[in-house]
Amino acid sequence: MNHHRIGVIGLGQRIAHVLSAMKEVGWFLEVAGYVDPSPVGLPILSQAGIDPGRAYGDAAELLADGPFDLVMIGSPNHLHFEHLNLAFAAGYPIFAEKPIVRTVEESYALAATLAKAATPPLFIGLVMRSMPIVREVIARADSGELGDLISMDATEHLGPEHGAYLARNWRRRQQWGGSFMLDKVCHDFDIFGRIARGRAAQVASFGGRGIFTAARADEPRTYEDGSPAYGVTNPGWMGANDAFQSDMDVDDHQTAIVRYDSGLAVSFHSNSHVSLQERRWYIAGTRGTLLADLVRNKLMIRPALDRRKPERFDFATRTSDNHNGADQAMAIDLLAALAGERPFPVTPRDSLEAGLTVMAMDESAATGRMVDCAPMWAAFDAASQAGGQMTAPSPA
Ligand SMILES: NC(=O)c1ccc[n+]([C@@H]2O[C@H](COP(=O)([O-])OP(=O)(O)OC[C@H]3O[C@@H](n4cnc5c(N)ncnc54)[C@H](O)[C@@H]3O)[C@@H](O)[C@H]2O)c1
Repeated sequence: MNHHRIGVIGLGQRIAHVLSAMKEVGWFLEVAGYVDPSPVGLPILSQAGIDPGRAYGDAAELLADGPFDLVMIGSPNHLHFEHLNLAFAAGYPIFAEKPIVRTVEESYALAATLAKAATPPLFIGLVMRSMPIVREVIARADSGELGDLISMDATEHLGPEHGAYLARNWRRRQQWGGSFMLDKVCHDFDIFGRIARGRAAQVASFGGRGIFTAARADEPRTYEDGSPAYGVTNPGWMGANDAFQSDMDVDDHQTAIVRYDSGLAVSFHSNSHVSLQERRWYIAGTRGTLLADLVRNKLMIRPALDRRKPERFDFATRTSDNHNGADQAMAIDLLAALAGERPFPVTPRDSLEAGLTVMAMDESAATGRMVDCAPMWAAFDAASQAGGQMTAPSPA
């Protein structure tokens, strides 16, 4: 196994978990150092027995201290664009967390950079692509056994602690996180675009803040057994003390409908304060139906004209982070991609398209209008082909 010298920009909880998974699956890794003003991932690394290396003053100082076999970017979303560009200039392979960038403008600019320059290999942490259950969903959709994909409904519902963490962490502010949907749901829409084999054509969405508000600050703060609620996880960089009385300006629930240009119609429901957690995809095709339960890691599929018991898969692995072994699977994929053995399961372009799809939902929620995505894709394609800087189309 090759030794990998790694530099980290943004040593938060996520990169620490990914590094731990890399070690767990057998990477021979050395973290040379990191850049982070308040590295919230340090205790996770220490628990995994990984030395974080040297603390560098800024990204330029770290990147000048190469060579690196991998630069890992796990900073808050608003910094991805800047950190990616710095890492491109340094020229080492990059693993960057999702969402690849935070805004439409950054998406076009990054598409242009990727088109015009010989950039180093770039792997985006859309980790669901590596999950065995998701691979099965994609394979079944591709096999044709579901027929034409007609309609689908999907959910992502988070428990109160997770919602409260989002309301206290930097994700609560648009300027850092982008939006609730961008940070949480770009994973799902990456997969939906992949199985639809198309792009979102029209999008409508409603979002709002009705849970983590000052008006609900006096609601009970304990669970039925007396244990404290809403404040368990360290909120980290720019964290707020109280989930109900922070300066949050992102939504805490959102619904959306999307029609893909390939014909698939999707409805999506997301909430950040539920007692019955769910991440579920129900796909109805002309010849069959598939139901994937991503929390319980179970899948069910049956042809339309078959009354026998459905085919059922239990992917067995369940972990409390709901990633259900995906981090380890992604760590194996990353090692294979770096070694040139096989392509990484998701491309930067896929990642940009997933982000733009979710941003169109946010535009609809903000304007109260259905968004025709054609101008957005035209601008994206122009940027991707010409390598020129494009501006965002004004809302329809
Ligand atoms: N793929 C997934 O499933 C998944 C899961 C969680 C988070 N993420 C993504 O990972 C990224 C990090 O999220 P997280 O949960 O680890 O958040 P976090 O708050 O735990 O970590 C973010 C880190 O960035 C650091 N930081 C702030 N400013 C910085 C700067 N100028 N330079 C370098 N570092 C800086 C913070 O101090 C913090 O340690 C986000 O983009 C998030 O969307 C992905």
